[in-house]
Amino acid sequence: MTDNKDTGGGPRPESTGTESGDGTAEAEERTPRRVIGTPSPAESRRLLATDEDGDASPAAPRPGEELDEEAARKAERVVATLFIIAFLASIGFIVVYVLSGRNGGMHGVRRAMWSNYGLGSTMTIAFLAMAAGITIWFRRLMTAKPIIQERGDLTSDSESRQAFTQSFMQGATDSGITRRPLLRRTLLLAAAPLGLAPLVLLRDLGPLPEDKLRHTYWREAVEQAHRQGKRGARLVVDGTYTPLRRADFESPGSMITVVPEGIDKLPNVLDEVAKAATIVINIPDELFQPVKGRENWHIGGIVAYSKICTHVGCPAALYEQTTHHILCPCHQSTFDATKGAKVIFGPAARPLPQLPISVDDQGYLIALADYDEPVGPSFWERG
Ligand code: FES
Repeated sequence: MTDNKDTGGGPRPESTGTESGDGTAEAEERTPRRVIGTPSPAESRRLLATDEDGDASPAAPRPGEELDEEAARKAERVVATLFIIAFLASIGFIVVYVLSGRNGGMHGVRRAMWSNYGLGSTMTIAFLAMAAGITIWFRRLMTAKPIIQERGDLTSDSESRQAFTQSFMQGATDSGITRRPLLRRTLLLAAAPLGLAPLVLLRDLGPLPEDKLRHTYWREAVEQAHRQGKRGARLVVDGTYTPLRRADFESPGSMITVVPEGIDKLPNVLDEVAKAATIVINIPDELFQPVKGRENWHIGGIVAYSKICTHVGCPAALYEQTTHHILCPCHQSTFDATKGAKVIFGPAARPLPQLPISVDDQGYLIALADYDEPVGPSFWERG
């Protein structure tokens, strides 16, 4: 007796059209075919193109077949609904994103968690609905056509171009995009916010710095002092915000961190201090060699430099009294305080900016202007 089970995925022999006397061929035709393993290319084509009865699959209309208009309209409504769902989910994504950033941004683990849930689920729904809509559109509303691509010269001749145009237009007609405005509009509706979604994420980069990196609060403090008829803004000790007298800073070799007066009243005091922090050093007058053009920016060797390292912005807070070197602890950039804080070692590319200082009528140290160059890492200059 002949065994009619599939024996493991090899191509089945074609029927010869004759039956053996025991009806084996007839039994094979009735038995559903099973394919185990990867079918041969010919078998794949046959399986994709036909159903169990050998007819073209009902999922896709056959070549040239007219669509059942009632079924097509039903599919069209399903597709349109999915596109609208995609549209709403995309809008939901943007709404969740905007709400997450309200009231000072997304601080806190729980808030970040719920924001991520919201963003992830709305984006997932949008993409799934879009993909499902497009799949149903292709499967139910387009006629199946074998597409044969010939390989030839890379440059197409005019005949090929004409054929392509014809084929493209035919495809557009078959897809229904010209005949079915509801689908076209809902597709565009769904695609528009999806395209916008990545753009709103740019907001995470924060507001543009504009010229904030080019000046420090010293500028505002000096302008304010000028409005009050004073020569400059007082240097106040960081932390206590008490003004610094020259007499309090007479011993050579000392160093102190100062900030502009009034900075402690600002709502963003920490941000401003991070830029305006300044070190004042008392260098023996005979050792100090002012940079050309800055001869009157110091008071008998008392000099002020930005505390923000010009490498990548660490506080350059170590001062070596015997060598008069300012050292940044992050990557060991070393600046010579006696020569305009020029770099003598390390990766920093430029000197620490110098603040022009003087003394007011009451003996307090004052800044006459803001730094004349941006403080901090050198790349700020090159941006
Ligand atoms: S930040 Fe100062 S040396 Fe790198």
